[in-house]
Amino acid sequence: MTQEPETVLCGRMYRGGELKYTEVGITDGKIVTVGSLVSGGEDRIELGSSMTVLPGFMDPHVHFRDPGMTQKETFSTGSMSALCGGVTCVLDMPNTKPPVTDIDTLMRKKAAVAGRSYTDYGLFAALTKGCRASLLAPYVPAFKLFMGSTTGNILFNDDSEIPDVMADVARTGKVVSVHAEDDDLIAKGIEEKCCQDHLRDRPAEAEYSALRRLARYSGSNRINICHCTNAPQAEEAHRLGFTTEVAMHHLTFFTGRYESALYKVNPPIRDKVSRDGLRELFRRGGIDMFGSDHAPHTLDEKSADFDSAPGGIPGVETQIPMAAEMVRSGEIPLELLVSMGAENPGRIFSQPKGRIEPGYDADFAIFDMRRVTEIDASKLHSRPDSPLTAGCARCSPIPL
Ligand code: DOR
Ligand code: ZN
Ligand code: ZN
Repeated sequence: MTQEPETVLCGRMYRGGELKYTEVGITDGKIVTVGSLVSGGEDRIELGSSMTVLPGFMDPHVHFRDPGMTQKETFSTGSMSALCGGVTCVLDMPNTKPPVTDIDTLMRKKAAVAGRSYTDYGLFAALTKGCRASLLAPYVPAFKLFMGSTTGNILFNDDSEIPDVMADVARTGKVVSVHAEDDDLIAKGIEEKCCQDHLRDRPAEAEYSALRRLARYSGSNRINICHCTNAPQAEEAHRLGFTTEVAMHHLTFFTGRYESALYKVNPPIRDKVSRDGLRELFRRGGIDMFGSDHAPHTLDEKSADFDSAPGGIPGVETQIPMAAEMVRSGEIPLELLVSMGAENPGRIFSQPKGRIEPGYDADFAIFDMRRVTEIDASKLHSRPDSPLTAGCARCSPIPL
């Protein structure tokens, strides 16, 4: 006799490309049955017909700053922020303090954040010269390679050293998420006063160069290009067999209009033509995943002169509601929101997440698409003085 599920969730759910009334049986946090009538369930949750039930979203790119920079964010504030934005799983980047480049530091970070997250999570390790990827692999969802300098000091951009490490990673089968700006093409030393100066110093050519240098791994490694800023870059990444991520700030902002240090980010906000091209490619389904690149800094740091302000924009809480608003307004289809925010990250990072199907984790994002509100930065759950979210003052449906 098959056991009855502990809980049954009933409502209008997204499955197989459409929304339909569905009953889902859940035991031990896993989906065990899916159908139009599921019996049992001590605990039966009936959602009204106005609710839209989507798979819980996965953000494969956050910087929660814990340990070491908890004045900017903690795992608790970051993951609460994620949850309130419909994100039920995050992958946290390794540029915390100390940076996660070896097994001891990884284990210490695991212990430090244990029991403090409101969502599921995985912790990246960074690739560095001589790092032991095969030793780290069982404990990480994926690796990070920083080819361009940014927050944290884990730049690794030397073609006499990267290939050995990539060969080691290839044997583990794990994805390498790459910050693909070639540091040799990033200008340094001239004072920057605004986002246009930052763009001058970090041209798209730095991204194309990084891709050309990564091409040699196209048959051997699983490579994911983080935060694509322009359409030719994302298209070339796909030609090479790489997967792609996009952040809401690159789909939204452009230089000339958005110039203060609040918008300073790496890779930089580009010009309007690049932004429009990227957004067009995204609308056509030409990018695999959303990755918020949630990178909070304190308001004090962001209020310093432009040149010394750190790069990074928060976004884990606003990304999915903003994309849901694009669905509501007809800019993108619901399928694209779900594939980019849930199905593809689950598949690419080999997690049983992102689909409302038996065997998958029972993670859901429940929206009331009729309730639309303006994003109010003061109500976000990220550390309160993180001042900017991509698209503040834009409208978005509220995840419940
Ligand atoms: O602007 C950025 N900020 N880009 C990155 O790659 C890192 C991030 C951070 O950690 O602050
Ligand atoms: Zn990056
Ligand atoms: Zn990042």
